[in-house]
Amino acid sequence: MCGIIGYVGDQSALDVALNGLRRLEYRGYDSSGIAVVGAGALRIARRAGKLANLEKLLSEGAEADPMPGTTGMGHTRWATHGGPTDANAHPHTDCTGAIAVIHNGIIENFAALRAELEAVGHELASETDTEVVAHLLEVELGNVAAAPAAAVPEDVTPRPIRPGTGGAPGPGASANLTAEPGTHPLTMALQRVCRRLEGAFTLVVLHRDSPEVVVGARRNSPLVVGLGAGEAFLASDVSAFIAHTREAMEIGQDQVVEARRDGVTVTDFAGEVVEGRRYHVDWDAGAAEKGGYPYFMLKEINEQPTALADTLRGRLSTDGAIVLDEERLSVQDFRDVDKVFIVACGTAYHAGLIAKYAIEHWTRLPCEVEMASEFRYRDPVLDRSTLVIAISQSGETLDTLMAVKHAREQKARVLAICNTNGSTIPRESDAVLYTRCGPEVGVASTKTFLGQVAACLLVGLYLAQVRGVLYGDEVAAYVERLQRMPDLVERTLGRLEPIRELARSLADAKAVLFLGRHVGYPVALEGALKLKELAYMHAEGFPAGELKHGPIALIEPGLPVIIVAPSPRGRAHLHGKIVSNIQEVRARGARTIVIAEDGDVVVEPYADHLIRVPATSSLFAPLVTTLPLQVFACELALARGLDVDQPRNLAKSVTVE
Ligand code: F6R
Repeated sequence: MCGIIGYVGDQSALDVALNGLRRLEYRGYDSSGIAVVGAGALRIARRAGKLANLEKLLSEGAEADPMPGTTGMGHTRWATHGGPTDANAHPHTDCTGAIAVIHNGIIENFAALRAELEAVGHELASETDTEVVAHLLEVELGNVAAAPAAAVPEDVTPRPIRPGTGGAPGPGASANLTAEPGTHPLTMALQRVCRRLEGAFTLVVLHRDSPEVVVGARRNSPLVVGLGAGEAFLASDVSAFIAHTREAMEIGQDQVVEARRDGVTVTDFAGEVVEGRRYHVDWDAGAAEKGGYPYFMLKEINEQPTALADTLRGRLSTDGAIVLDEERLSVQDFRDVDKVFIVACGTAYHAGLIAKYAIEHWTRLPCEVEMASEFRYRDPVLDRSTLVIAISQSGETLDTLMAVKHAREQKARVLAICNTNGSTIPRESDAVLYTRCGPEVGVASTKTFLGQVAACLLVGLYLAQVRGVLYGDEVAAYVERLQRMPDLVERTLGRLEPIRELARSLADAKAVLFLGRHVGYPVALEGALKLKELAYMHAEGFPAGELKHGPIALIEPGLPVIIVAPSPRGRAHLHGKIVSNIQEVRARGARTIVIAEDGDVVVEPYADHLIRVPATSSLFAPLVTTLPLQVFACELALARGLDVDQPRNLAKSVTVE
């Protein structure tokens, strides 16, 4: 949510920022802006709407280089405070116009801070929470210049702004002071400002007189550093700088990073220097490009066999044990588990719902699945023997992160399933299993959903193994069958033309219902979510048996109803029930679209449209039955002329609660 890139080096900061924003636009696309420091000036360009509007603005001027300079930053916004207008677009500046700020997150005490600032004469030009940071920096730069350096680290108490102490607007202290790494006046001012802020934020700041630094800070919101030769990058995620360097550094909670050409220094908000963890990014720029597809979503749907295979690769050790990625829990800790909670949002929540069936079946442990945004507010019963599984593609979803923190405060063990190395949720967890799906740029999750389902199945098998509920050879047999799934996914993708055609023919439909039973129910929910977010169409998923308790009133002649049929082999009793449910909606005029496995002839008479998928075991079936639903939503949205990579009002990586 909001994409951020900061740069200091030898290249054109405008080019670096624009290229970075092109890769980050999936994080928000309500407005965008760039600031560059060069030739003694701070230049800012910003525009409401997609990045293309900003690019147009920059190309309209007469100058060959509208923003000269090699220090700069860029921002792409998902609006929280204030609508998506030019005035609310980032960067924001202080009264002197010397300081520029970009921000991701929400500053919860911004109203009080704004009132304080206005009381001493600061004039704020936007409705955003972000702008207060620029003015607070103006104040604190004055305080830093006035204070003896040694006093700064001890001064950790938030202080109100008072006139005459640097609070009133004015020329402000120049930030152009040479300083030891980590003690640049802009860095120290940002440390002080961060101590006053409540909420979640990633901030990147520049000063007109300090082309030698770009400074960033984070709390509960992502910020990663790219380390190049003679250059440094600050960004929301590595995709922003992957074209320049694959060497990265994590920035921890409540830390400030001062980036210069010759390196970076990380401190906490009190000014103490801390070590950042360096890592190498194991994918390259090509992975985050469209690779010949018109949309990332189409590419990512087709990448699912590889994403699944990579997630499963090497998970079975030579002695038959399942291998997680980072385990800060002992085998005994897993043996002691007496209850499992899964917390996640959106598509990841649907993966969790599927996992419940497998975990309970294999481990005989009770497993609850909960939307992360609700979890901590209802005081769930957690203790040392509770295992909380947090599923998140981005590893930054604030609702999920807060659920993780709550669980750990209550002494529960937390295992993260995540697609993004170095992100916050795995760092805050006791153990991690990475879905190795590569970068997912399309806002709607596709390949990472499959990765999450597979990872959940592995965790279920792992728990069953360490608890001795399944024998080693049984676990190995399941893993072997799982490892055959990428091939089935590939085969399924190869035969989805009929659903594409059907989707195009339904482009004018008003609503679609999705029905399923057992693991087909979360698949139905996922199909409905995809259709809502991509095609802006009313879509609902229901357990097929629940329909008669109310929702069946929605059925009217011609309404498309997609039914995910369970296998007639593994779950014969369920299959019979769903056949009855298909007949119930058909009798009321619905147009039935049935997703059924090869060889299921029983459903044939009741399906107006039959979409075949390869037969597989019940618990693994979502890995194939989800695919036609992804393709259906994508194709229908395209037929409606919509942008499937950047659906309206959405952003990938939701870093606000
Ligand atoms: C829908 C979608 C979202 C995410 C949700 C959680 O297609 O992508 O519903 O699944 O916002 O995001 P992560 O997995 O990053 O925590």
